[in-house]
Amino acid sequence: SKLRMFVDELPDMPKVHGFEFVNDVPKSKSLTIGMFNKKWKFHRDIPPTSVFTFGESEYKATVPGPTIVALHGIDTYVTWLNHLPSKHILPWDPTFPTATPSDKKGVPTVVHLHGGIHEPASDGNANSWFTAGFKEKGPNWTQKTYRYRNLQQPGSLWYHDHTLGLTRVNLLAGLLGAYIVQHPDVEAPLGLPKGDEFDRMLVIFDRNFQSDGSIYLNSTGNNPSIHPQWRPEYFGDVIIVNGKAWPRMEVRRRKYRFRIINASNARFLNLSFTNGLRFTHVASDSAYLKIPVITKGFSLGPSEIADVVVDFSKSKGDSVILANDAPYPYPSGDPVNEANGKVMKFVILNHQEFDTSRIPQKLIRYPEPELSSASRTRYIAMYEYKSDIDGPTYLNGKPFESPVTETPKAGTTELWNVINLTEDNHPLHIHLGLFVALDQRELVNVEEFKTCMTKLNDPIKCQISMFARGKWIEVPDHEKGWKNVFKIMPNSVTKILVRFAYIHSNTSYAFDPTADPGYVYHCHILDHEDNVMMRPLKVIS
Ligand code: C2O
Ligand code: CU
Repeated sequence: SKLRMFVDELPDMPKVHGFEFVNDVPKSKSLTIGMFNKKWKFHRDIPPTSVFTFGESEYKATVPGPTIVALHGIDTYVTWLNHLPSKHILPWDPTFPTATPSDKKGVPTVVHLHGGIHEPASDGNANSWFTAGFKEKGPNWTQKTYRYRNLQQPGSLWYHDHTLGLTRVNLLAGLLGAYIVQHPDVEAPLGLPKGDEFDRMLVIFDRNFQSDGSIYLNSTGNNPSIHPQWRPEYFGDVIIVNGKAWPRMEVRRRKYRFRIINASNARFLNLSFTNGLRFTHVASDSAYLKIPVITKGFSLGPSEIADVVVDFSKSKGDSVILANDAPYPYPSGDPVNEANGKVMKFVILNHQEFDTSRIPQKLIRYPEPELSSASRTRYIAMYEYKSDIDGPTYLNGKPFESPVTETPKAGTTELWNVINLTEDNHPLHIHLGLFVALDQRELVNVEEFKTCMTKLNDPIKCQISMFARGKWIEVPDHEKGWKNVFKIMPNSVTKILVRFAYIHSNTSYAFDPTADPGYVYHCHILDHEDNVMMRPLKVIS
């Protein structure tokens, strides 16, 4: 049976404020957010689905979870509580490093604020997991309450589960939500569309459902003798926005701001409007751009965020569909179909609106690092290195557990050359470090380079500079600012300049980035991250 599109209204997640005003002075606030197993209606005609959700209470819990609104410079404390049952609602695979309670009961979880800049103990380390009531805890667990500093640039972030080996299934079950850092002093003068009606979050992900409404995840892997359940990428045909399948939204004939998060496990999105309506990008991952950038469409890898203004007064016709045409796997997999090629529909009200919001000519200019300031150069190779134990390893040929090799000095900037020798595009995400993508260049004679890498596993000995001579791939203008994730193209070298602990003040840190348990960097295709395209990252003094 085919589901009808555009029948459910686009919902908005509840907002939870991470600050409060006491005698007109903003003060930090302590939130308690739980994880619950409840039923969720993804579509008028899909029976209620068992999900894992975030919420201030079970009754208030939603998929995605509540949008946390924080204020620049004001700490937000969150106590994340696990109220999940003793058994997972989805199949999972124990054949790679996976959080395992000693009594085998409970669903391990831990929450990471993606794009946040805060101390390691509040970063949601993959080994800091805990089960219901903190009954069982991972080896790196230290504290119940996380402290988010909100000292970074204003922008859009998101929070999600980050448990060792279970991230893909915990997010598929619903453990994700949006987070906004506001800085009214610098944002208000921009004049962008604002308020709950005109500044909207769009959290997009794909799922498959069984006829009883449950989320479908294969229970058998494609190589079951090695991994009984795991498959390299999860794709669903149903596109969900803010918890509803292919929703519709009534909009006025005026400008709206949309903060669009690709919260899919593995699906890339190539978004455009069916009537050619344009997007004006005002920010990317977590920071504003210098100047607005107009596009007809753009791509978002898993975990990437676009922050755009859309002016519906420029629309021809009174409705328009937001469509997706990204092949899956990206970039050279299957083309989209009738279902996963559509995202949502906007129905535009007829009468012309008086719109006082605007798109300024200049946004916010944040100082960017110079290449000459890089204190160190690193090479990160993404490649299927064969190992005789449990399948290939993908980052520099090292599994997650092997000792840390990336140990940047706090406050420094490093040049990372990320070499992708696989067929897929891998969205690389680095915790703590925001970065600027400099350029991407295709490799020539890739097979020869791979042969050398198989033998020596050393890009310098294999003379990477002799191979990094192909076509230049332009970094799109709307991705030229500060980012926390970047799409690493196949058969290419991508140069990024990473700043470790980018902080408002140039003299001191608000926290100790060198503390335990450190951070991680990884591919944000969650099925890759779990098995095990993730490495530790330790900042040193
Ligand atoms: Cu969005 Cu390490 O994650
Ligand atoms: Cu990947």
